[in-house]
Amino acid sequence: MRDFKGRVAVITGAAEGIGKAIAQEAAARGMKLFLADIDKAKLDATATELRADGADIDGMRVDVSKADQVDDLANHAFTRFGRVHLLVANAGVACAKPVWDTTPGDWEWVMGVNLYGVTHALRAFLPRMLAAGDEGHVVATASMAGLLSLPSIAAYNASKHAVVTVMEGLHHDLQLRGARIGASVLCPSWVKTRIALSERHRTAGELTRPASLDPIAAKLGGAVQEAVAGGMEPAEVARALFAAVAKGRFYVLTHANSKSGVKARLEDILGDRPPTLVRL
Ligand SMILES: NC(=O)c1ccc[n+]([C@@H]2O[C@H](COP(=O)([O-])OP(=O)(O)OC[C@H]3O[C@@H](n4cnc5c(N)ncnc54)[C@H](O)[C@@H]3O)[C@@H](O)[C@H]2O)c1
Repeated sequence: MRDFKGRVAVITGAAEGIGKAIAQEAAARGMKLFLADIDKAKLDATATELRADGADIDGMRVDVSKADQVDDLANHAFTRFGRVHLLVANAGVACAKPVWDTTPGDWEWVMGVNLYGVTHALRAFLPRMLAAGDEGHVVATASMAGLLSLPSIAAYNASKHAVVTVMEGLHHDLQLRGARIGASVLCPSWVKTRIALSERHRTAGELTRPASLDPIAAKLGGAVQEAVAGGMEPAEVARALFAAVAKGRFYVLTHANSKSGVKARLEDILGDRPPTLVRL
């Protein structure tokens, strides 16, 4: 998809962070926007900001883990703009625990938002995008945790690996059918957002803390928070994504050191070695 001007983008998790930056980049390229997020107040603030810059923009509160709400999102977006050309399933949450502390509620929450948030969106939007016959593109935000297995974020790793494989399979399905719709999977390393504070989206009743976080998990959690705080600016990720979509690139690795980690993992598999602990 090379031309963005006048085309329609739908972005989930667009109220802040990477999603907001993607919305800003899309607006700067003249796209019309339909934005979705679970945080209505922040979403409204973002929409107001973009509208003030002249963007044609609408949006609604959506919990992407709920299939019926994502169906509603698609219905509203198609009613408002008639067409959707770019879908960015970006909403995501993180849960920093080793697997033995990850509760059934944690799994449900993380897989619900990170994996089903993507699959619900693909199911809700793609049939109408394909039927329209227009040139288009679908993006899912995964992570380097979709290509590497980082310690003490078991559910996050699992959800993001699942997103990568769903998108790889989707790429084949689209190609085999000669579709005019491309696919990309966005795999950033650390980005300066509020991802480390994802639990802000859970109610007190849903939160289950381990009785005591072991010192290694606590240390790793602190290191992740520092890495995110010192991470890439979301605007840079958004620019890299649009450059990749314009070229039809599938894997979008935004950070310079990412490929060496992937190489180490593949060499471990091929060389019958246990996984190398990659420092991102
Ligand atoms: N920040 C990083 O270092 C990093 C690295 C790799 C991948 N990612 C991925 O980037 C994506 C965006 O995260 P971010 O870093 O901008 O974090 P963020 O917390 O700043 O933004 C996430 C957005 O998703 C929204 N959201 C959360 N749960 C939702 C739900 N159930 N339904 C709808 N919206 C929901 C939040 O309100 C927020 O606006 C996520 O998929 C995340 O996993 C982030």
